[in-house]
Amino acid sequence: MASVDLARREFLRFLAGSPLLLAALPSRAAEQLVTPVGRSSDSKSSAALLTSAAEAINVFDFEAVAKRKLSPAHYTYLSMGIQDGFTLRANREAFGKVKLRPRRLMDVRDLDTSTEILGTKLSSPIVLSPAGAQKAFHPEAELAVARAARRKDHLQILSTSSSNSIADVATARAAPIWFQLYTSRQWPVSWFQMQEAEQAGCPVVVLTVDQVGMGRNRDSLHRFRRRQNPECQTCHQSLGEKFQRTTDRLGIDLRDVIQDTLILDWSVVDRIRNETSMKLVVKGILTHEDARLCVEHGVDGIVVSNHGGRAEDSGLATIEVLPEIVDAVKGRIPVLIDSGFRRGTDVFKAIALGASAVCIGRPYLWGLAAFGQDGVESVLTILRRELETIMIEMGTRDLKSINRNHVRVASGRE
Ligand SMILES: Cc1cc2nc3c(=O)[nH]c(=O)nc-3n(C[C@H](O)[C@H](O)[C@H](O)COP(=O)(O)O)c2cc1C
Repeated sequence: MASVDLARREFLRFLAGSPLLLAALPSRAAEQLVTPVGRSSDSKSSAALLTSAAEAINVFDFEAVAKRKLSPAHYTYLSMGIQDGFTLRANREAFGKVKLRPRRLMDVRDLDTSTEILGTKLSSPIVLSPAGAQKAFHPEAELAVARAARRKDHLQILSTSSSNSIADVATARAAPIWFQLYTSRQWPVSWFQMQEAEQAGCPVVVLTVDQVGMGRNRDSLHRFRRRQNPECQTCHQSLGEKFQRTTDRLGIDLRDVIQDTLILDWSVVDRIRNETSMKLVVKGILTHEDARLCVEHGVDGIVVSNHGGRAEDSGLATIEVLPEIVDAVKGRIPVLIDSGFRRGTDVFKAIALGASAVCIGRPYLWGLAAFGQDGVESVLTILRRELETIMIEMGTRDLKSINRNHVRVASGRE
């Protein structure tokens, strides 16, 4: 029985990568073969079968494997949204309100997904979002992600709360990475971290301005804390060691420093601009008012983000607010976006609405947790293939030719 299922999975994978073969099938039969009826049930059955990253059909397949492999606390940290999950769900549901307007009979030979943002050349607009403490998902953590990003040639943004040093990750990536900054109440800490990033060759610092109240799902956090066992304590204490390392070099005592963003206003943005030669991107912008202020304060780029539904339970999806931000910025600085992107089609929609690049979070973390470097590589391969497939279908041979005429945003009455 298992071998029959495996053979079927192999066949599906083959078909998923072969649009021409699919075309030969009656359309309903083809749909039933490759379109998951419901992603969770589809992912659950994958979890029972997936034994290598190469078997995955779509990125959701990795989530079920990650869930099976991780401890409940780490899986919850990875998957949770804030409070009741309205924003988490909205991020996905909003894609259904952006419809596609395909153009036919276009020359799509020599497909090209490359672009350049703030001097960083990208072979694909799909970027790896910063995510903290990746040792919770795989022993090789950010180094495995860096090696996958190197193999597949994708930009990696490294979190302040990384499990590995900036220098080590930059070496593993062997190309410039961007550094994400959570500011601290003590400016020298942030200054020192930016120095480290600059010395490691990072051309861009990404200042995260959401989660100021340390967002997160406090319900889950406290529930797990109550059950915390000695094993957890050992690992979590090592985060303190990271600060200790910083303390020695700075000559100030950081043992009680909280890496929070409570004291974060526009003066901090100005200060960062003055004290680093790195370009400054602000992550977590959701309104045209703040987008305009970013431009006024000389910010070099924006990431439209609600932290993957982890910051506040606004119910506001990022793809929904992207047009107002793009309109406010008027092409003066690049606008990147994240939160809820799981398909090449989602990426296409964001590019059509004016995004320069799309960052993904949980999909590559699922891949990392499931199969380490192989899992991350496979997630990137799948998303690249899906983006290329939809570009062909839409008649767009490069990113520049994708525009708002390729989408219709539903009014909500439809
Ligand atoms: C487990 C986890 C850890 C994260 N850690 C950080 C972080 O350290 N810094 C940051 O700016 N964003 C962090 N984020 C947010 C991501 O950068 C990104 O905004 C989000 O994951 C995108 O949504 P998606 O997961 O739906 O793709 C984290 C997200 C997750 C899921």
